[in-house]
Amino acid sequence: MWNNEGIKDTVRRWADLQSPTVLTITRALIFVLGLILVSFVLHTTQIFAYINTSVFIRTGPLHLGEAQNQSIILGPELVTISGERTGFNSNSGEWPPRLEFAILESSGPAFDLYLQCQHQFMTKNESDTLSFYQIAGIHGRPYKEFNGVKGNANLGLGYCKHNSALFLLWHRAYVALYEQIISECAQSLAPRYPATIRADYVNAAKTLRLPYWDWASTPALPEFLQRATCTVRSPEGFRTIQNPLYQYKYPPWAHEGTDPDLPPPSNGSACSLPFTVRSPNKDFVSQPEVANSNLNKVNFRNHTYRFFTSLEGNWDYFATAARWNPRRKDSLEYIHNYVHYSINGTMPNNDCSAFDPVFWLHHAKSNTDRLLALWQAVFPKTFVGSSVNDEGAFSTSPGTVETPDSPLAPFFNAKDREPLTAHMVRSIRDFGYSYPELQGDSQLSEGAVRHKVMQQVTRMYGA
Ligand SMILES: *[C@@H]1O[C@H](CO)[C@@H](O)[C@H](O)[C@H]1NC(C)=O
Ligand SMILES: *[C@@H]1O[C@H](CO)[C@@H](O)[C@H](O)[C@H]1NC(C)=O
Ligand SMILES: *[C@@H]1O[C@H](CO)[C@@H](O)[C@H](O)[C@H]1NC(C)=O
Ligand SMILES: *[C@@H]1O[C@H](CO)[C@@H](O)[C@H](O)[C@H]1NC(C)=O
Ligand SMILES: *[C@@H]1O[C@H](CO)[C@@H](O)[C@H](O)[C@H]1NC(C)=O
Ligand SMILES: *[C@@H]1O[C@H](CO)[C@@H](O)[C@H](O)[C@H]1NC(C)=O
Repeated sequence: MWNNEGIKDTVRRWADLQSPTVLTITRALIFVLGLILVSFVLHTTQIFAYINTSVFIRTGPLHLGEAQNQSIILGPELVTISGERTGFNSNSGEWPPRLEFAILESSGPAFDLYLQCQHQFMTKNESDTLSFYQIAGIHGRPYKEFNGVKGNANLGLGYCKHNSALFLLWHRAYVALYEQIISECAQSLAPRYPATIRADYVNAAKTLRLPYWDWASTPALPEFLQRATCTVRSPEGFRTIQNPLYQYKYPPWAHEGTDPDLPPPSNGSACSLPFTVRSPNKDFVSQPEVANSNLNKVNFRNHTYRFFTSLEGNWDYFATAARWNPRRKDSLEYIHNYVHYSINGTMPNNDCSAFDPVFWLHHAKSNTDRLLALWQAVFPKTFVGSSVNDEGAFSTSPGTVETPDSPLAPFFNAKDREPLTAHMVRSIRDFGYSYPELQGDSQLSEGAVRHKVMQQVTRMYGA
């Protein structure tokens, strides 16, 4: 499980990996607490009126269904996710791949654009809907409405789906939104370079996609993430900037303990620090070597291979650590949780983990999505079915039955401005990116793809 837990809980959770008894007791306790919460909610009529969110509620300008004339009713503020990206190769029929971090790092123009756009994103005014503060805030705290999708702040959860069969697909949509923001920034930055180098930057911008950090092959944080500053070639020449992958600094008002932002500074959880940290010492300085040593305690490589070989191609076994999954310790969600715990500090806290740039760039999300895409290539016929989400989320009441048609709130499709669903994110081709291991697949049969991907998986992660 990966929940609204402080650092103390991480210790217990870390022990989980070693001890099945502790795990069972912990889960039983959490389940009982969940039952108490649900019954409390059911008996509190005031809250009950709020919590009827298994129906996806949209307000004001977003009543698309009823719209007579959508161009009038739709507010310009609706953030949508578009599969229309640049860089499609019409000869091969392929979208550009997301690259391993080390490869992007050595790419010159693409890395310059990526760092500047990440920096621009993170320093954008927090009241802007497309600021890092707002986008990172979708995941956990602050428990606020995004895109007009209503929710229940009393649950103490953000929109993110965990312990849900939709966990991987929700995060696929989330990362796609983030990638879209970086990519749009790169498109507008590249033409500003001096004529002599402009073409290189314009081309790099077209194929720029987010990098991933393959923690199963390299269980150590990329060294670049630990530099406080970095030098980039900007349109105005070389300059040194705060490294946007090192740390995020919250706006000063975020911790005032007012309406429902981040916990106040006295709170004692890593979320209450004014900046993000990774395995901090007592002076709140990140210690990457401690994170790396934790990462080496879990055999991520072996676990990754097991997704492909020991889960019978079953979606629930693979996708989620939720209680209906009897193989939860082998699920991608469960293993991905341990990457959060290993990095420690900000990362194990569902409430604020998305504020640490490592959340996005490498560790959990884009590599987790990559493993999902590889798994889908090996088991193309398998997809999410219908199951109960016990835990719930900001806009999903606990106990909601989720299906491939459930909304991945608060995300909307750019094509029809309707809520994104699991069906709509099934194929990464619709989102304008690929992964290195899947390049060339559009020319191959399903069986040939399966064979090829499995060979690569065995080479990368096999015993
Ligand atoms: C995470 O940090 C907390 C607080 O410093 C510590 O007690 C815990 O053991 C750490 N977890 C891991 C996995 O190292
Ligand atoms: C929940 O929402 C549905 C659909 O809008 C409605 O029919 C139902 O009466 C609501 N239930 C409660 C308890 O408000
Ligand atoms: C919708 O409203 C716009 C702006 O007033 C108008 O130009 C357009 O013709 C309308 N479309 C329909 C289908 O009524
Ligand atoms: C951010 O934008 C808001 C609203 O436009 C404004 O009041 C505030 O001063 C801005 N903050 C900064 C740091 O510029
Ligand atoms: C920290 O904040 C959480 C809610 O975010 C609250 O439940 C907890 O009691 C707070 N702890 C302290 C020590 O203030
Ligand atoms: C890796 O997993 C296999 C089962 O798939 C197991 O037999 C083997 O002992 C594991 N190796 C290590 C080093 O943990």
